[in-house]
Amino acid sequence: MSAARQGGRGRDPERVAYLNARLLDPASGLGTEGDLLTDGEMIADFGPGLFKDGIPEGTQTVDCAGLCLAPGLVDMHVHLRDPGLTEKEDFPSGTRSAALGGVTTVVDMPNTRPPVTTRAVLQDKRTRVRGRAAVDYGLFAAPRSEGAVSQLRDATAFKVYMAESTGNLQIDAETLGAVLHASAELGRLVVAHAEDEHRFRKGQPATLAGHSESRPKESEASAIRSLGALRGEARVHIAHVTCAEALAAVPEGVTTEVTPHHLLLDTGRPLQAFGKVNPPLRSPEDREALWDAFAAGRIDALATDHAPHTREEKEERFDEAPSGLPGIATSFPLLLRQVRAERLSLERLVDAMASRPAEILGIPKGRIEVGADADLVVVDARRVVKITARRVRYKCGWTPFEGMEGVFPSTVYLHGERIVEDGEPIAEGAGRPVTRIEA
Ligand code: NCD
Ligand code: ZN
Repeated sequence: MSAARQGGRGRDPERVAYLNARLLDPASGLGTEGDLLTDGEMIADFGPGLFKDGIPEGTQTVDCAGLCLAPGLVDMHVHLRDPGLTEKEDFPSGTRSAALGGVTTVVDMPNTRPPVTTRAVLQDKRTRVRGRAAVDYGLFAAPRSEGAVSQLRDATAFKVYMAESTGNLQIDAETLGAVLHASAELGRLVVAHAEDEHRFRKGQPATLAGHSESRPKESEASAIRSLGALRGEARVHIAHVTCAEALAAVPEGVTTEVTPHHLLLDTGRPLQAFGKVNPPLRSPEDREALWDAFAAGRIDALATDHAPHTREEKEERFDEAPSGLPGIATSFPLLLRQVRAERLSLERLVDAMASRPAEILGIPKGRIEVGADADLVVVDARRVVKITARRVRYKCGWTPFEGMEGVFPSTVYLHGERIVEDGEPIAEGAGRPVTRIEA
C-alpha cells in the first residue's frame, strides 16, 4: 500500500516535474532557475538543468517559467479557536485560509476552550482536529505547573503567558521558573508571551496609542529580562516582539518572532479596536525600527499570531473589545509585496517564514531538500492584488490589512497533493499532525 493511501487520501504516488522555476530556498542557491522533481509525497531532486537528458517517462510536468517555487510556509503562532470559540474560527476555516496564503504548516495555540492545560484536553483536541485541517498542524500546550510539563509532553511545544491576554493563562514567576526547568529536562521548546504586568499602566484606553501606552514597550523588555534570568537550560522563544527595546533585552541563545501587523501597521492607522492586539501596535517610528531589525535578520521568525474575533466583538467600546487580529492568509502575500518593493530580500522572507520556524520547532519542514515533504508554493511575483476580507475567507469576515497590496500563491501543494489551484483552496482535510525531530 502506498504512503499516500496510508495517509487516507487515496492518491497513488506519482512523479511531477516542475520546470524552469525560480527556486526559493536559502540553503540551495536561492533564486536560481531550475527544475524540481517530486515523487509522490516527497521532493526527489532539484537543481538547474535537472532534465537535460530528458524527463523520465510517466512524469507529469508543470511549467513554472517566470514563477517562483518556495517551500510551504510554517506559521508557528496561530489561534484557530477550535474547540470552544468556533464562532471566531475553526480548524477547517482557519487552515483553508492558511493554505490560500501559502502556509502549509500551522501550530495552534492552547487558549481554546477548554484550554490545553491537561493531557486529556490535549488528546481530545488532537482527536477533534484529525481529518479537518487543510494543512499540516502542531498543537501547543500550556503547562501551569511543573508536573503538567511531562503530562503534556506530546504537544509540539509549550506556551507560557507572563501577562493577562485573551484566555487568562498567565502564570507567576515562580511557576514559570519551574515550568522552564521541567521543559529543559525534556528538551522542549517554550514560547513566551513576554509582557510584564507590573509595568502596565492603569486606565481605560480608548485609542490604539492609549493601548500602547497602557502596555508599554518597557513591559516587554522587562518580561524578556525576567525570562533571561529564569530560563536556565530551557530553549526559549519570544513571541511577537514589537520594538527595538524588546529586542535589545533578548539574551544570547533565545530566539524571537515578529508578526506582520507589528511590521506593517501602527498606532497611526484608523483601525480603532480592529487594531487592538497584545502586545499592542506601536508608533510609526517604532514600527520602522522593528522593520529594519527584521530585514537585517535580527529577528528569527515571522509568525502571524492569527487571533480572530468577531466583528461584533471588535465593534464594542475600545476598552471592552477583545485583543487579537487575524493574519494567517496575508502574511506571505504582504511580505512578498515588500520584497517586490525592495524593502526585504527574498532570502530573508523564506528564511523567516519557512526555514527558521521549522528549525526552531524541530520539525522536518520549511526547506527545499531531497527527502523533504513536497510542501510547495508556486507564485507569480508580478501578480499584485488588493487584499479584501472576501479573498482571505476568515470566519470572522474582516482583515486589518483591507485594501493593502499582496501577492498570493497560485498553486499550493501539501505532501505532493494540490490543495490550492488558481488561488482557490480545493482540498480539505489533507493536513496531518507534524512530527518532531527528536534531539
Ligand atoms: C490572543 C487571542 O486573542 O487569542 N490575542 C492577542 O491579542 N494576541 C491572545 C494572545 O496570544 O495574547
Ligand atoms: Zn497569540
